[in-house]
Amino acid sequence: MKSLCSVLLTFCTALSSLSGAAGFHVFGYEGRDVNVSCHYDEGYQGYEKYLCRNGCGDSDVLIMTGQTKKGRYSIYDDKKARKSTVTISDLRASDSGTYWCGVTRTGKDLYNEVKLEIRQDSCCDHVTEKESHDGGSVSFSCPYESENQNNLKYFCRGTQPSTCLQQALVTSDNEHNGQFTLTDDKEIRKFTVNISSLTQKDSGSYLCGVHRNNGFNVFAAIKLEVKEWCCVKSHNMSGIVGHAVTLQCPYLPKHKNNRKFLCKGDHHKNCRDVITSKSRFSMQDDVSSSLFSVTISGLEAGDAGTYWCVSDSQWGIGNYTKIQLSVVSDITVETNSTHPSTKHVKDVVLYVVVTVSAVSLIVIFALVIACKYKRHKVQGAEVNTYRSKPNTSEEAMGGVDIYENQEVVQYAKPMKSGQQNACSQYDNEGEDQPDYENITEDIYCNQSFHQGYNR
Ligand SMILES: *[C@@H]1O[C@H](CO)[C@@H](O)[C@H](O)[C@H]1NC(C)=O
Ligand SMILES: *[C@@H]1O[C@H](CO)[C@@H](O)[C@H](O)[C@H]1NC(C)=O
Ligand SMILES: *[C@@H]1O[C@H](CO)[C@@H](O)[C@H](O)[C@H]1NC(C)=O
Ligand SMILES: *[C@@H]1O[C@H](CO)[C@@H](O)[C@H](O)[C@H]1NC(C)=O
Repeated sequence: MKSLCSVLLTFCTALSSLSGAAGFHVFGYEGRDVNVSCHYDEGYQGYEKYLCRNGCGDSDVLIMTGQTKKGRYSIYDDKKARKSTVTISDLRASDSGTYWCGVTRTGKDLYNEVKLEIRQDSCCDHVTEKESHDGGSVSFSCPYESENQNNLKYFCRGTQPSTCLQQALVTSDNEHNGQFTLTDDKEIRKFTVNISSLTQKDSGSYLCGVHRNNGFNVFAAIKLEVKEWCCVKSHNMSGIVGHAVTLQCPYLPKHKNNRKFLCKGDHHKNCRDVITSKSRFSMQDDVSSSLFSVTISGLEAGDAGTYWCVSDSQWGIGNYTKIQLSVVSDITVETNSTHPSTKHVKDVVLYVVVTVSAVSLIVIFALVIACKYKRHKVQGAEVNTYRSKPNTSEEAMGGVDIYENQEVVQYAKPMKSGQQNACSQYDNEGEDQPDYENITEDIYCNQSFHQGYNR
């Protein structure tokens, strides 16, 4: 810039007429602003400055000092820096052309030629499309000309070149910023931007930008689509506290020799393997059907949540199953209905003791009896609701084979002691990695368990 200024100064001093002025270029984008700054020589601080077009007759003057603002033009004369700046706002394509910075003086005015170039604030004819998936990473290659080797490189969101540098996500001066990394390889004249930990929010348009000292900055457009983590199948399931539930996990046949596990957490990236940490979780692997199932016995309220069936430790793209498990508690139903009536009884008793005299003891007695009776009635009703729940689920379950229906929730009564023993060996083994030699035993165990609750 300094050299440009001194060049301009030379021009300013050398020029005394319109002819022969070999001005400088200014670049702007449609709809945006541009600053046209002209330096002037020592001694002209107090003189009137203006910007004009065409022949620079009186009617060609767009704005002059003393007016500060006129339509889309505003002027500021920085006397200390000996620089007058005209800002043209809301640029139009028709603003392109030659302008003159003028200094009024006796005799011929001083002129400085300015060529204004306007471009559309959008980019580009060619858009590189990229695709990645949730949780993955992507990298973009942005080549540039050798003349821009040492210039600033940057990367921004959107399609507007005018604001790209200002809103840059990462630049060659600041190569790391959260998910974004910019690597500039000057030898092959290419910079690379890597975006990691992608989420679907990262989908959209981006620009690679290269700063140029004189001219429009160079841009390349990219469109990124971040797809949902591939092929996730979502199932909702619910179970009852104290009962068992079986989660079905189909896997890709090529994963048959991988370790399978069930991972709990809102996102597959930060979930926890549940089978190794809890013995209530037991796994059966059916290699011939490319399916493993996990039975959670003695459901607890805390078992509710999101589970992921994992058969690929790399969490690569593939067909995965996500299971949303909700746990219904019978106890919640019970306490909810008794609580108000218990409170009611207490309130009544307190009120009676405080206000009623000893003679009314009979009344109190009668009241308490009445309330107790009411309470019994409520509890009686609860027993019915308690019973009706498992009954309906058993009916809904009738004859369902878990190996045929992969999406059905398995409600089951707690196992009888004999059956529990038959499965306990398997339950313990569930903590280890799946053992394919035990498959038949597992299935047998599971079948007897089914017969148990279908009875
Ligand atoms: C023009 O100059 C003003 C004052 O220095 C500045 O605030 C503004 O950002 C500049 N506009 C452009 C488009 O460079
Ligand atoms: C992006 O950077 C990360 C971390 O350095 C790396 O693991 C990943 O492979 C890179 N992605 C691409 C597509 O180059
Ligand atoms: C699961 O339930 C949630 C709301 O709890 C719902 O938004 C979603 O669509 C359901 N998914 C399936 C596969 O039924
Ligand atoms: C997902 O499963 C389908 C059918 O089983 C298969 O055609 C497809 O290739 C699988 N997708 C991936 C990414 O493995």
